Amino acid sequence: MSALRTALYGQADHDLAPAAPDAVQLSPLVPGSTDIASIPDESFIAVTVRAPAGAVERRFVLAHALRVLAPNGRLTAFAPKDRGGLRLKKELEALGCEVGESARRHNRICLVVRPAVITSLDDAIAAGAPRQIAENGLWTQPGVFSWDRLDAGTNALLQVLPEFSGTGADFGGGIGLLALNVLASSKVTKLTLVELDHRAFDAAKRNVADPRAEFVWGDVRQAGLKDLDFIVSNPPFHDGGGEDKTLGQAFIASAAAALRKGGVLWIVANRHLPYEAILAESFAKVRLVEEGGGYKVFEAKK
Ligand SMILES: C[S@@+](CC[C@H](N)C(=O)[O-])C[C@H]1O[C@@H](n2cnc3c(N)ncnc32)[C@H](O)[C@@H]1O
Repeated sequence: MSALRTALYGQADHDLAPAAPDAVQLSPLVPGSTDIASIPDESFIAVTVRAPAGAVERRFVLAHALRVLAPNGRLTAFAPKDRGGLRLKKELEALGCEVGESARRHNRICLVVRPAVITSLDDAIAAGAPRQIAENGLWTQPGVFSWDRLDAGTNALLQVLPEFSGTGADFGGGIGLLALNVLASSKVTKLTLVELDHRAFDAAKRNVADPRAEFVWGDVRQAGLKDLDFIVSNPPFHDGGGEDKTLGQAFIASAAAALRKGGVLWIVANRHLPYEAILAESFAKVRLVEEGGGYKVFEAKK
């Protein structure tokens, strides 16, 4: 890789930090990107990082970003103040950097030149790396949705899932928890897990070792699946930082497009999320299966 190249982790914000149009994308949330952990040392002259909110994940990304910089290469990292921005400077100093910090639009922006020695590099990378949870043997990684515990919404759906048959999909499949449950039925012939986060996609491939499972790294809204008998989903409701109810609504519309007539969607949502209208619009019959503990589970038949 030419040492003149630059890289970008996450969506660019040209008002906050420089990012070349041909920068190599390193965020696992962008389909087609390159895994930052797979980049050789000293590959880029500049790296721009939209730093993630999770502390362990952020330190992992910052450590890798420094590692892939050539000597004297520049790292620009930014984050909203209340989503890790206020900690960026200290975290970069702990990695051995001298940090120039500025503030803009509620963000902190830190600029550093790669230090000759990156302090605690291996620790930061090991702390954020993929790992297998001892108790259940599942692969996961800090930064992935609910990476080290069963999500209460997933659990609510797991409690009531019926035995499916035929071909189906898991929209936003995560590390594969719902998929493992669905594939317990021998009547399921194929299950496609669609997942945007490459870390979760990778973990799911390891966790769901079943020849009937197919894995797609991509956006549910563009998955283009057709004629399915069933879909299960615990859809995301955060995009970037804030709550985004339109994401779950788009998952519902995409599910309706991917099912055959008579096919079913089983979906869980936080109680306050307004999914009823889009469910009623997109499906012939909608049933509230369960409500409790802050969640509601729907079965929607096309
Ligand atoms: C609430 S989590 C559910 C994960 C898993 N099914 C479970 O129940 O544990 C939603 C998942 O959707 C993924 N996701 C977010 N936006 C997506 C999109 N547009 N297309 C596909 N997956 C997406 C997230 O990365 C996350 O893994």
